[in-house]
Amino acid sequence: MMSFKSIFSPTPANTVIGVVGLGYVGLPVACEFARVGFSVIGIDLKAERVAQINAGISPIEGNEPGLAELLAEVIGSGRLRATTDYADLHEAHIITVNVETPVDDNHVPQYHALRAASRSLSQVIQPETLIIIESTVAPGTTLQVVKPILEASGKWQVASDKGQESDVQSKIYLGMCPERVMPGLLLQNLRNLSRACGGCTPEIAQAMVALYRHIIPNADLDATDILTAELVKTTENAYRDVQIAFANEVALICETVGGDVWKVRQLVNKSPGRNMLLAGAGVGGHCIPKDPWLLAAGLNLKFKNENEKLGGEEINSPFSILNSQFPKLIPAARAVNEFMPQHMFDMVAARLTAQGKTIAEARVLVLGYSYLENSDDTRDTPSEKLVAHLQASGATVIIHDPFVAQYRGDVYAAATGCDAAVLMVKHTAYLSLDFHKLKTAMTSPLLIDGRKAYDASALIAAGFDYSCVGVGN
Ligand SMILES: NC(=O)c1ccc[n+]([C@@H]2O[C@H](COP(=O)([O-])OP(=O)(O)OC[C@H]3O[C@@H](n4cnc5c(N)ncnc54)[C@H](O)[C@@H]3O)[C@@H](O)[C@H]2O)c1
Repeated sequence: MMSFKSIFSPTPANTVIGVVGLGYVGLPVACEFARVGFSVIGIDLKAERVAQINAGISPIEGNEPGLAELLAEVIGSGRLRATTDYADLHEAHIITVNVETPVDDNHVPQYHALRAASRSLSQVIQPETLIIIESTVAPGTTLQVVKPILEASGKWQVASDKGQESDVQSKIYLGMCPERVMPGLLLQNLRNLSRACGGCTPEIAQAMVALYRHIIPNADLDATDILTAELVKTTENAYRDVQIAFANEVALICETVGGDVWKVRQLVNKSPGRNMLLAGAGVGGHCIPKDPWLLAAGLNLKFKNENEKLGGEEINSPFSILNSQFPKLIPAARAVNEFMPQHMFDMVAARLTAQGKTIAEARVLVLGYSYLENSDDTRDTPSEKLVAHLQASGATVIIHDPFVAQYRGDVYAAATGCDAAVLMVKHTAYLSLDFHKLKTAMTSPLLIDGRKAYDASALIAAGFDYSCVGVGN
């Protein structure tokens, strides 16, 4: 067997890599390490997904340049192998953990997958294995949730700066290197974006830099500590959410006062140091809507430890903190962004009323069901919330999305007999719609644009009753 010392200068010749969780993040990570020559063992609980991956077929169906080809190549060469059996990780020197880390309806982190993966790993790893958490977690989670689980059997001790663990046979290493990828750009992001490499010791942080340098040749790889890495990831996504919320709030103001947020944004961004983001129909996915709550949840980690002693499950709801002083901005931004699908509903209802129709009698076409253009990812999609509002009001809802299996088909056939259409996702296919055909198919040509996808004058000239988010009358 190869020496576990190899983790300090990992190369394809001396290091076997394990990847736990083969979803949007883990699968491309596994492929990338295999591409540069590492022997990679991928683990997922879903047998069907594992079988598909071992057959060289990518389970990710959106427009994901290069992924399907790369997967076929690394499976074909034998450098990547997927399995449901944790025992196969016995030979891995470095293991990344890429499982889902959602929050529940009360915004409390749900670490079932992370806890289960940590427990399973503690049963199969070897002394001196390096485990790197790539999942996004609340600040403090790696050392306060993952580490105690790994150490619970009494078999392992995670190395620390204090260096008191002297027994090499029980020593393991822990790191935190959050992912920055986004669907549609998975491989491109993985290869080109910088990473924070947080280690349980400075030497481990350096070892992580050496590891990721194999797949990220040019971008910065910053050695840091685990808590900083956790804070960086949750902060960057909370920052984005707050910025989008600001754009959405200005959009709502513009609609009320008769302005145009798109023109305003263009001119605002001519002012030095301003970079106002795009307003829109809502924020979705497995990152931006939940990572701000993970950042906020870090405030309550002290409570968590007490809860666990009492047999409690997760961290207290961040809402409990609202009763004290902070956070204020993060929940406010979340509330604005969560409101946008409701606002799209309000826009449809208002235009239908203006046409003398009721929402309850209307047949409404929702264009786009993923949360992101040209992606099949529907997690936390704003379209789901719009559809719920429409259905609760009695409308008949027709959903179309070229990337989501159950909603594919001819868009003009979907539009047939519809009283209104709402553009929720700026899929490329929707940018070149034949408006004459769309108008002919619909009962009344009413179009609400949630993404500023269309030119208002062209739509109005084509005979549409057209409204765009952020544009007042
Ligand atoms: N999706 C993104 O764009 C993105 C970007 C950056 C970071 N992240 C973060 O990366 C993490 C993973 O996100 P994702 O989008 O890849 O999630 P995902 O749901 O697509 O993939 C997670 C995979 O882990 C598997 N899994 C769950 N529990 C397991 C266990 N105990 N053992 C083995 N496999 C297990 C699941 O079956 C699933 O296939 C999350 O923390 C997320 O916040 C996601």
